[in-house]
Amino acid sequence: MNHSTNGHRLKGALVGYGFIGSRGHIPAYSKRRDVDIVAVVDGCAARLELASQQIHNVRTYASVQDLFRSGLHLDFIDVATPPSDHFSISLEALRRGVHVLCEKPLTTAAGDAEALAEAAVQSHRVVFPCHNYRFAPTIRAIDDIISSGRIGRVRSVTLATFRPTHAKGVPEWNPDWRRQRRWSGGGIAMDHGSHTFYLAFDWLDAWPTSLTAKMLNSEPERWDTEDDFSATLIFPGERTAHVHMTWTAGARSVIYTLHGERGAIIARDDDIEVVTPRTNGTSGDVSWDVDRTVTSSSWMDASHTEWFNAMFDRFLTAIESHDYAGEDMLDACRCVAVIGEAYASSADACHERRLTTPSGFERRSSHPDRRPAGDIALDAPPVSAVPGV
Ligand SMILES: NC(=O)c1ccc[n+]([C@@H]2O[C@H](COP(=O)([O-])OP(=O)(O)OC[C@H]3O[C@@H](n4cnc5c(N)ncnc54)[C@H](O)[C@@H]3O)[C@@H](O)[C@H]2O)c1
Repeated sequence: MNHSTNGHRLKGALVGYGFIGSRGHIPAYSKRRDVDIVAVVDGCAARLELASQQIHNVRTYASVQDLFRSGLHLDFIDVATPPSDHFSISLEALRRGVHVLCEKPLTTAAGDAEALAEAAVQSHRVVFPCHNYRFAPTIRAIDDIISSGRIGRVRSVTLATFRPTHAKGVPEWNPDWRRQRRWSGGGIAMDHGSHTFYLAFDWLDAWPTSLTAKMLNSEPERWDTEDDFSATLIFPGERTAHVHMTWTAGARSVIYTLHGERGAIIARDDDIEVVTPRTNGTSGDVSWDVDRTVTSSSWMDASHTEWFNAMFDRFLTAIESHDYAGEDMLDACRCVAVIGEAYASSADACHERRLTTPSGFERRSSHPDRRPAGDIALDAPPVSAVPGV
């Protein structure tokens, strides 16, 4: 795998050698010929020791401060720590002139996400979120069906994420950080909300204008974060996304349904059904055609390593086209804002919260993968997504 980087192998540092860093990102980088991971940063000595054993010639550092003090030349850092540190690490890298790829959620507060977008534009460096579900074969197949026009304009979607428990971090550090607000910033909404919300934005081709949400914590004596989340998001044109995410499910599964003007898509993990009505000409009776497709997304493998490189290619395209805070980043800002407003709604007896987009952070275009060919001008001059900075 090799993206056009003018023959230059990009030098990267992975910050956080935990589950996703070591099992998701590093195996994907090892398939590329355009990237060298030259350094690993981790606050946990046992994880650094593992990185030294597993990655040839890698330098190791106990903190990003140590990394930057070393003077090592870097093109980008890949932030794969728990969310509490995403903002400070990413901001430091941008100030040092280093591009940033950052795991979801981009930050735990909307203001921090917007500050990162502004810092990216000011420093002429890209910040790009790991919104990897977009690159799962099942999601790409759904996008293709929408683009084909078979179900017409999408009017409502449901997105359900079922997990029997929270995902565990590596045992050498703090496997239960997802249930501890100090590290996670919240429970399943913070952990999984980004994936759910950017898919809803893509499928409804808009950002929501209001929401109402409810959260539950089934073990308040043990944890200070929610393990069950439901919400209704209202989109322009009275269209809706209904969301349920839970760590208390009896199975591990994602179930998405998309309802359009001329049919529906029903996806459960790898299985996709496209349901369209057919009217009998003489009787006028309606019958239903059901087309079934099976994709191969490896949903049960939480490392999602097979989705990584298509996403990384988009990060490289953003670097090459000077798209410092592009559509993916603006979506990340909206995801964090939606999560924050959902917490506020739940804390306020599910009252509806209006969602406003700060000036300069407006949606720039439709889902990039659905734009007509030729719409992406790779050699265009730098574009500021954030006017005035
Ligand atoms: N996109 C996806 O599909 C996906 C999947 C899993 C995890 N993630 C995200 O990846 C991130 C990490 O999750 P994980 O499951 O790998 O967690 P993990 O606990 O397995 O790994 C975290 C690692 O970060 C290290 N660390 C903690 N604070 C640090 C700091 N300030 N500086 C350097 N290292 C630090 C820990 O020692 C640990 O090794 C989270 O943001 C999570 O949401 C994304």
